[in-house]
Amino acid sequence: MAFFSKKTESVPTEVDFSRLPKHIAIIMDGNGRWAKKRSRPRTVGHAAGAENFRTIATYCKEIGIDYLTVYAFSTENWKRPADEVGAIMGLLKKYLLEAIGQMERDRVKMEFFGDLSLLAPELRELCERTREISRHYEGCQVNICLNYGGRDELVRAAQAFAQDCIDGRADPNHLSQEQFGGYLFSKGIPDPDLVIRPSGELRLSNFLLWQSAYAEFYFTDVLWPDFSKEELHRAIASYQNRNRRFGGV
Ligand code: IPE
Ligand code: IPE
Ligand code: MG
Repeated sequence: MAFFSKKTESVPTEVDFSRLPKHIAIIMDGNGRWAKKRSRPRTVGHAAGAENFRTIATYCKEIGIDYLTVYAFSTENWKRPADEVGAIMGLLKKYLLEAIGQMERDRVKMEFFGDLSLLAPELRELCERTREISRHYEGCQVNICLNYGGRDELVRAAQAFAQDCIDGRADPNHLSQEQFGGYLFSKGIPDPDLVIRPSGELRLSNFLLWQSAYAEFYFTDVLWPDFSKEELHRAIASYQNRNRRFGGV
């Protein structure tokens, strides 16, 4: 059962393409269960998930989503068996190599949120190259959260701010929310309007804790590798039916 109220269940799935969310964030969850359902190893699910990421990212660009942020690997995912972590890192490498090859055509700006220093040098270098090549592309920006954790991001921001205070570049008595946002990986990027979590889990799992303060959430039982364009339409239609008050009336 999807986590809907009766009211939202009856919402039409038709998308109004003239008022799309500017920024969509997705927790790409359910790869392992997708594979298990097919009696295949979890890594097969990760490969299917990576493929689906390609499909959904391309589609978001096509319909004119300005920012897509995806959760690919969390600071907690290192707890998994080494062979699974290795397989995920291998898929990321493969994806980035292919993305680099098609960058001129796709013209998607790619960013990475998370501490890349813990990645294998080869993968880290690929991330940096991808970021560098696509730096000037405009139209759609894809942020890949890799070794990312919301709490880790906030602690880093606090450390960087403290250092700036010590160095005389910042004043601890004057820190606005906007200024603090400038210490986050998402610096300069608007907050997500819509956060989607497939796979039936009803939690954030340390994703964009600061940025999703006023996001609309969409949960579905569909597993990430099966999260199709139609599912995305459902999520966007649901979002478009919400009344965002931001604390007002
Ligand atoms: C998401 O799918 C991918 C990562 C967390 C890297 P999972 O691997 O968490 O799949 P489930 O939740 O076990 O089905
Ligand atoms: C969140 O999924 C992280 C990613 C999708 C990358 P998890 O599968 O790691 O989250 P939990 O363990 O169910 O909270
Ligand atoms: Mg999971």
